[in-house]
Amino acid sequence: MAIREIVTLPDPVLRRKAHKVTHFDKEFSTLVNDMVETMRAAPGVGLAAPQIGVSERLIVVEFGDENNEEAPKKLYVVANPEIVEASQEKVSAVEACLSLPGLVGEVERHKMILVKGLNRARKPLRIKAEGWLARIFQHEIDHLEGILYPDRATRVWQPREDEEVEVIE
Ligand code: NI
Repeated sequence: MAIREIVTLPDPVLRRKAHKVTHFDKEFSTLVNDMVETMRAAPGVGLAAPQIGVSERLIVVEFGDENNEEAPKKLYVVANPEIVEASQEKVSAVEACLSLPGLVGEVERHKMILVKGLNRARKPLRIKAEGWLARIFQHEIDHLEGILYPDRATRVWQPREDEEVEVIE
């Protein structure tokens, strides 16, 4: 495993629509492992392949239970993720992105979503996500379309050093 460099704006890979994953081979497996390691080292709760310069539809997310701090974190690896259902209800919160250092933004996201995709063994996967987990998935899946959170934000600002902000990745 290796920690990869996280690319930042204005790298054009962040604005490109990523390609579907078609080969679940050794190279893919290495990519997954490197993304997990890079996310943990950052540290972050999610990472999309374009953020390490790979224009493929692959995300990793690692998050616990927001209602139970003692619950273990759960790791999700999703290739070709799609949001197939989304609640009408939306929630607004502040998020940030490792590819846009020094900025945060207030973004409205669906409160609940259903994500479909493939796991690292190419098996179909369904994840029902709510709250922060739903927010992380929406943020990461946006990366695969070349969408960054300021595109959806109601406001974006540079936080003061003493301003505590919960960062997505
Ligand atoms: Ni991001």
